[in-house]
Amino acid sequence: MTLLALETSCDETSAAVLRHGEVRANVVSSQARLHADYGGVVPELAAREHLRNLIPIAQAALHAAGTTPAQLDAVAATRGPGLPSALMVGLKAAQAVAFALRRPFLGIHHHEAHLYSPWITGAPLRADFGAFRPNVSLIVSGGHTMLVHVQAEGKHRLLGTTVDDAAGECFDKTGKLMGLPYPAGPEIDRLAERGNPAAFDFPRPMVHDANDDFSFSGLKTSVRYFLRDHPGLLDDAQRVRDLCASVQAAIVDVLVGKTIKAARRLGVRCVTASGGVTCNRVLRRELATACQREGLALRLAERSLCTDNAAMIGILAERKLLRGETAPHWDEDIAPSSPLG
Ligand code: KG4
Ligand code: ZN
Repeated sequence: MTLLALETSCDETSAAVLRHGEVRANVVSSQARLHADYGGVVPELAAREHLRNLIPIAQAALHAAGTTPAQLDAVAATRGPGLPSALMVGLKAAQAVAFALRRPFLGIHHHEAHLYSPWITGAPLRADFGAFRPNVSLIVSGGHTMLVHVQAEGKHRLLGTTVDDAAGECFDKTGKLMGLPYPAGPEIDRLAERGNPAAFDFPRPMVHDANDDFSFSGLKTSVRYFLRDHPGLLDDAQRVRDLCASVQAAIVDVLVGKTIKAARRLGVRCVTASGGVTCNRVLRRELATACQREGLALRLAERSLCTDNAAMIGILAERKLLRGETAPHWDEDIAPSSPLG
């Protein structure tokens, strides 16, 4: 089966071509620079940029995969959640292609795709569902922070989510307070490398709560007060590195602590993680250390698949089509029901 997948839920325009579980092409164009001046994603600008870039990016993916539209057996796109106007661009384009080619169309839930992206691995990237086992999955990005119990393929239960800011948003907003460019997550990761994570003590919100929810806005506020109470600190490069390392340690402690606690409680033997924040090197390292200590297997999404991409949409779509979910949902719209239950 050869499949074209499109993803436009936020500020990445992406197209992928999949063939028999293998990622033949995965073209991702980030709009981060476009939104940097605004300190966050501007939905109207994102939609217009998707509109400008989607066709060339889809053509580039087809070209890289050595595939023509006539060779496609199916088309898929993210159906949500995401920015409505941005989603609409990829969803309607994919439906139009499917309709014109008279091929099945599948709308994919963005979070469900994140849940399975850690099972795409190797070079070339390909689906490794043979290794699948029940797990607790951490999805952690600029828009979402959630824990999901993946009981079996296609059987999920949302355990907890953030009650305010997402972890990536916390990286980005605290970075903004430090004067770092948007998105600040990668920059904090880089600066923290030579900083002392124990230099400043920031709260670990909800880490000991009995539920699986998260909260990060209080941490952001404590960084704001900290900077107010330490005027001039931002002029000292080493203190900035220490601050980055300390904030990062607080976020990572919460993410790792709550993930492991949920895995332990549910008795799963595997933890997975995906989403843009999973690029964070300390998070990857601390998850690996904690899982090893607990005797848990760990599947981290490949770095290239942590941030939003069409490959994860396509791999899941192909899997669903092979399971017989072939209805041509040309009338399917955004605002999806969640398969996370
Ligand atoms: O998944 P993603 O591309 O988009 C959505 O937000 O849906 O994730 C982007 C987020 C941003 O908040 C960015 O700061 C964060 O992921 N991020 C990181 C790192 N790389 C990306 N945060 C911490 N450390 C990183 N290395
Ligand atoms: Zn995402």
